[in-house]
Amino acid sequence: MPHAIRIHEYGGPEVMRWEEVPTEEPGPGEARLAQTAIGLNYIETRQRSGVYKVPLPGSIGMEACGVVEAVGDGVTVVKPGDRVAYAMGAPGAYTESRIMPAERLIPVPDWITDEQAAAMMLKGLTACYLTARTFKVQKRQTVLFHAAAGGVGLIICQLLRELGATVIGTVSTDEKAALAKEHGCTHPIIYTREDFAKRVQEITNGEGVSVVYDAVGKTTFEGSMASLAPFGMFVSFGASSGAIPPIDIGMLQNGGSLYATRPTLATHTAKREDMLSLADNLFDAVKRGIKIEINQQFALKDAAEAHRALEARETTGCTVLTV
Ligand SMILES: NC(=O)c1ccc[n+]([C@@H]2O[C@H](COP(=O)([O-])OP(=O)(O)OC[C@H]3O[C@@H](n4cnc5c(N)ncnc54)[C@H](OP(=O)(O)O)[C@@H]3O)[C@@H](O)[C@H]2O)c1
Repeated sequence: MPHAIRIHEYGGPEVMRWEEVPTEEPGPGEARLAQTAIGLNYIETRQRSGVYKVPLPGSIGMEACGVVEAVGDGVTVVKPGDRVAYAMGAPGAYTESRIMPAERLIPVPDWITDEQAAAMMLKGLTACYLTARTFKVQKRQTVLFHAAAGGVGLIICQLLRELGATVIGTVSTDEKAALAKEHGCTHPIIYTREDFAKRVQEITNGEGVSVVYDAVGKTTFEGSMASLAPFGMFVSFGASSGAIPPIDIGMLQNGGSLYATRPTLATHTAKREDMLSLADNLFDAVKRGIKIEINQQFALKDAAEAHRALEARETTGCTVLTV
């Protein structure tokens, strides 16, 4: 029987249990995957702790790669034997065998490994839509990105370098600063030691940045708003340090006709054609040389250790759970 990481209650990493699960048959429009690699994402720590409610008992996880084993009636987009990956949809990726709606599956090109596909779908698609759709970054614009050495961070730094942007990136350690720099971050700032908003003003000669991509949240919100140039955009796309306070719309006026948005990959991939076109953008980026850095790997059954490392800010780049 296949195994899965399941939780019966919300809590710390210790609530994750390695359990046998039945092999299910796909219904109409569904496919069964034999999963080979699962990507780790910050959101899963929230699913586990109950900040985002998932059905209990149940599994967590949002992205993986695997091989189609069986398909249900009416499925035409994939067939048994196809290598596919996915990001988003219902939680439940931490498993060896999984039923998925076939429409959510993305064929993986031969030259991308299972581990790369699992590592990059959610984080890479996010980096693509943030820079090309949420705020279309132009050459010579200055961008502030928090947690620049993280999973989304190392991918987005490379994309922004390609676009010709100046990237100011915050990180917590010297090692992370060096890594972010290597991947295209022009000005790493160690925000655990320095007032990053003050440094942003120094770096930009008091002008501020065109866009802030902020998924750290609570601890960076105020400084992010203070770092924006007039007409700049505040993009809140996560809350690794906790939720931001409610925004008073008057703040946008006071900051200089600012914009604020809270995007999610779910909307950007809700339609299959949008998901596939974003995936093509990502595959093209990897072909051009954008690196998907898998800096940590754990066996799926040891997912609790991976969660501990992610929440302790010990990881860089992507983390993959292998089957
Ligand atoms: N909206 C969307 O569509 C979308 C999609 C994907 C991801 N996200 C969000 O993007 C963020 C990055 O995701 P990821 O999976 O790539 O994670 P990650 O960036 O690899 O890990 C989170 C990083 O946040 C920083 N951090 C700052 N304060 C923290 C705290 N109090 N506790 C823990 N970490 C803290 C740490 O970097 P330092 O040590 O350098 O501070 C840590 O390494 C997450 O908030 C995630 O939810 C959103």
